[in-house]
Amino acid sequence: MTDTPAYRVAPGADIAEDAQIGEGSSVWHLAQIREGAALGRDCVVGRGAYIGSGVRMGDGCKVQNHALVYEPADLAEGVFVGPAAVFTNDHFPRAVNPDLSPKSASDWDPVGVTCERGASIGARAVCVAPVRIGAWAMVAAGATVVKDVPPYSLVAGVPARRLAWVGRAGEPLQPASDGTDAWVCPRTGEWYIPDETTGGLQLASTPVTDAPRATPPEDPETPASEEEPRA
Ligand SMILES: CC(C)(COP(=O)(O)OP(=O)(O)OC[C@H]1O[C@@H](n2cnc3c(N)ncnc32)[C@H](O)[C@@H]1OP(=O)(O)O)[C@@H](O)C(=O)NCCC(=O)NCCS
Repeated sequence: MTDTPAYRVAPGADIAEDAQIGEGSSVWHLAQIREGAALGRDCVVGRGAYIGSGVRMGDGCKVQNHALVYEPADLAEGVFVGPAAVFTNDHFPRAVNPDLSPKSASDWDPVGVTCERGASIGARAVCVAPVRIGAWAMVAAGATVVKDVPPYSLVAGVPARRLAWVGRAGEPLQPASDGTDAWVCPRTGEWYIPDETTGGLQLASTPVTDAPRATPPEDPETPASEEEPRA
């Protein structure tokens, strides 16, 4: 790993000159970060991952090994993109025009995947743009997402459908025992209620205080285990 004052880059990573990488971030071997991409603080981009031109990533995002985040994706803070997940950008893809001439940038309109704060995308999931993954929603491994996912939904399958509600801690929520339409996180005790504007849930109790972020390791050659791409 090459140590810079602000962030770390493993050998073989390919980062465009005008890409912005936030302080405390790590970019692993053979990852590619394209022109104009902007990553927040404390992000991790795993081995062989691709971050497209102009993609925005908020603080604390993790893009795991071999995930492909094609532009114009937009990731809020704390988004997890699992290994080999794909964010598409061409809804009706063709290599060529009807006359078999090569398609240029002006021959198609890119569409993007938007991930709201804290959302997680499971391993090898495909998000077919244009689509919005709501705040703290979770997409199961291998799912194919073809329509918007409301906040706090846990979706799975092809096409992805909601299996359950999930809280900020990542655990499925349980119905409240008081007979209301509220949901409770068994781990944190947080309460959630339906949100008519999004079709998902919203947090209805005081948020459980988040743990402080781990401090970066002293030695860039031996990164802390929590900073390693996990898969
Ligand atoms: C979706 C997920 C969170 C569900 O976990 P869970 O709550 O423990 O779910 P269960 O194993 O109890 O399964 C509940 C149901 O969902 C189904 N299911 C679980 N995971 C599924 C998946 N990935 N795709 C389709 N269906 C799935 C199960 O078959 C089961 O169906 P049934 O009730 O008809 O038997 C988990 O399976 C998953 O995919 N996690 C993502 C892992 C990942 O990609 N991590 C990335 C870092 S490596």
